[in-house]
This record gives sequence, structure tokens and C-alpha cells, in this order.
Amino acid sequence: MIFSSLEFNNNDPIYLQIENYIKYMIKNNMVVTDAKLPSSRDLSKILGVSRNSVIVAYENLEADGIVYTIKGRGTFVSKSKEDYKNGWNLSWDNMINSYGRLAEELDIVKTEIPWEKGMISFKSISPDGALFDIDEFKKSFLNRISLEEDKILNYGYAQGYKPLIDYLLEYMKQKGVSVENKDIIITNGFTEGLEMILDTFCKSGDKILCENPTHNTSIKIMKVLGLDIIGVKMNQDGIDIEELENKLKNNKIKFGYLIPSYHNPTGIVMKAEKRQRVYNLFRKYNIPIIEDGFNEELLYNSTHISPLSSIDKGGNGVIYISSFSKILFPGLRVGWILADKRIIDVLESVKRCKNIHTSFLDQGILYEYLNSGAFDKNVKRIRKVYREKYDFALNCINKYIKPDFIWGEGALHIYIGIEGVKSRELLKECYKKNVIFTPGDIFSVDNSCENTLRIGLTRLNLEQIEEGIRIIGEKVKELRERIRFNEDK
Ligand SMILES: Cc1ncc(COP(=O)(O)O)c(C=O)c1O
Repeated sequence: MIFSSLEFNNNDPIYLQIENYIKYMIKNNMVVTDAKLPSSRDLSKILGVSRNSVIVAYENLEADGIVYTIKGRGTFVSKSKEDYKNGWNLSWDNMINSYGRLAEELDIVKTEIPWEKGMISFKSISPDGALFDIDEFKKSFLNRISLEEDKILNYGYAQGYKPLIDYLLEYMKQKGVSVENKDIIITNGFTEGLEMILDTFCKSGDKILCENPTHNTSIKIMKVLGLDIIGVKMNQDGIDIEELENKLKNNKIKFGYLIPSYHNPTGIVMKAEKRQRVYNLFRKYNIPIIEDGFNEELLYNSTHISPLSSIDKGGNGVIYISSFSKILFPGLRVGWILADKRIIDVLESVKRCKNIHTSFLDQGILYEYLNSGAFDKNVKRIRKVYREKYDFALNCINKYIKPDFIWGEGALHIYIGIEGVKSRELLKECYKKNVIFTPGDIFSVDNSCENTLRIGLTRLNLEQIEEGIRIIGEKVKELRERIRFNEDK
């Protein structure tokens, strides 16, 4: 209460002392612009003075423009003319540390061409909002909040919402993964899960092996944590086994990070036999695997291939991270880590250090939605839509671009390579025609992949897909002709 420190002296008139006190509080930002002052009746009671003294003080302040009155509503603090003068100005830019600088430098949202209205953008692989199952999700919200009431809005547990954890343990079993001696922690999406593992187990300079190219955000996390990234090249069928063994043998590697299903950016689904070989190699060199299962549920072509974690029956060498970002709603920010109990135990404390816990309301609604069976139905539905887009886009790419290679089995994007054409140059040309995509170097750990690009399909309709790919094809043709012309000179 701002008036609690007002002490009257015996010299000045009461109204003047009230007036000066309010001026002082406003000048020192103790009351904000548009804050309501007590009514003259209330303030006279609070201060034990006549109502008339308060009325005179308010009238004088209003005459000076310091407060304003709205009839029937009361007296309010005006916007001060002094507000923005004499502020305390620090040079924050000089104070940013190397983590902040690197995070900003690697932030493609700030550095790459942004989406603009009217553009055909193949950049995004986030789900199509039109496919969101809003009605069922609303029901889940109402059911869960009616059941849990205030409890779900209070602080919860760092490990996560118990019914959701139990559901996911069962879900992982259905994927063929043994959960014996393992547990789950709920995270803010895959991204927090990966960051927590690396932050908890690695120190700056440690080596992380991954597919090259790989998920751009994972590269960024590794870089800002000061980790040394060892990339292994990819072929049509995924990671190159020979190079993998070489790098595992000759480097002191802390972790391997792999995306076995619908790899981002290539879309490759590692075959079952190859999964076994990859697992055997990591096991041979005693290097734990972080498995990213983010898109596993899409299952376009292949019947379900069990995750790498399922090979590790009764073992603890594979840490599995996934999320509902691509198969449901990215805005939920709910992901999970399935790993050895000791890992989850330490991550629980780490989570408390970072952000206490992932929103219990979000976890509760999600659990209700999963448990109601709506999730399974929805996954079947979105699979069909994305499949249709993928097949359509594939035909268009073969017709208009005729790339040197097309990798992957689908998912939310298509990865293509065009010999001799730099995707950055191609992007510049396409941008002039209002078409953008993601150049392959963004996913590279060593500035390679310059002749490749990722075409994200989720947000576009078939008409836009065809028109966008036609334009890319046109520009590829022009660039190829330009190259040929220069070679002939
Ligand atoms: C390889 C990979 N893993 C995980 C994710 C999902 O991350 P999050 O759950 O933090 O949104 C993505 C999203 O693009 C991805 O490409």
C-alpha cells in the first residue's frame, strides 16, 4: 500500500503533504501509469484526515496533469513526461557471453531468409495446423481439468505427470523396447531432452558422433555446449558403416547421436539389419547412443521397424528421446527420455535446476487425449495426408527438377541432391520468384552438403507444391545451363 509510509509533519498543510507524497511516488516509479488511486473517501479514512484535504490534493494534481479523473470510475496516474528521461543505460551487448553469442550466431530464424506473405515456403516441417484435432483436444482439456481441478494447476513433480509417464512406459513396450531398469522423464520437447543429457554428461571439448547431415537444432545445442562434433557421412541407406567404425575406433567419443527413422533432413529410415550393425559397433567400442525417435510414428512405407533401443534388451546403452511435436502439436512442448533409472534420477534434479517441471496442465491434457484413443486415430489420419503430399511432391520433383538423387522414404520433407548446382545460389534465384527452401549446408557439421536441399511439405497444398517445385526446376535448369556455358568458354 503506497500510503503506508506517509508521515505528516506539523508545518505544511495536509493537502500539500498528500500532493507532494503522490508526486514523489510517481517520480520514483513506485506507482505505474494508469494505476488507480484510492477514492477520496477511502484515502481520507486510511490517512485519518478530512476528505476535503484529499479532494484538494487530487484537484491540484489533476490541474498539473499528474493524475486524471474518469467520471464514475476514479482518479488515475497520468503518463509522466519524465518517464523515459534519465533512464539507467547499460551496454548489454558487451556483456553477452560466448554461449549467448554463439546461440545468436547459429540462430537460423534470425539469419536465414524469412517467410513473407505470398511466398511458397518449403522451409517448414512443422505440422499442418489444419490437421489439428482441436475438438477432441478440447474435450480432453475439460475432462482432465474437471478430474484434477486445482491440483493440476499447482506445482507438480520434476519427473513428470505420473499417468503420462506410465502411459509412455507402456507405449515404449509396444514399440518393442524393454523398460526393465529404465524410467521416463518428461521434457519440454525433444530439444530440452537432448540438451539435458548433453549438459549432464558432457564437458566442453567432448566428442559427439552424429550422422552428417543431421538435425540443425541438435548441431546448435552441441556447438553452444562447446562439444566437438564428429560427423559420419550418409549414403542412400543411411550412415556409412565403414566410416562409422573408423571414427568410433580412432576418436575418444562420448556419445553417438542418431536419427534412425525418417532422419532429418534426409528422410532415410535405417533398415533393420543396418540398425543391428550400427548397434553392434557402438557396443563394441562401448559408446552410448542417443536415439532420436521424433518421427517414428509416421511409418510411410516400411512396416514398423523397432527403434535401436529395442535391440538393447535388458541393457542401458541406448538413451531414447522423442516428442509429440511432429506427430501431434509442436506447441505443446512435451517430449520424453527413456533411459536407465540412474540417468532419469539425475535428470530429475537437473530438470529442477532448469525449469522445475514441464507444465502439468499440458501433460494432463495430453495424457487424457492419448488415453482416449484419439491420438491413434489422428496419427492414422495425418499419415494418410502426409503420404499423399509426399507421393505428389515426389512426382513433381521427378518431372520438374530431375535431381541427381532423392533420398528417404517420406516423412514431412524430401531431400534431394543436384550435382554442380549450389543450393545457396539456387535459393537466391528462387527467392526472386517467391519460393524458398532449406539449403543442405544448414544440416551439415562441416559446411558440406552444398549441392543438396530439403523441401518441407507440411504447410503447403498440392497446388502450391507443384507450382513451387516447377519454379525450383526452372531455376535449376537455368543454373545448369549457365554452368555449361561457362565450362564451354
Ligand atoms: C530430428 C528432430 N528431432 C526432434 C525434433 C522435435 O523437436 P521438439 O520436440 O523440441 O520440437 C525435430 C523437429 O524438427 C527434429 O527435426
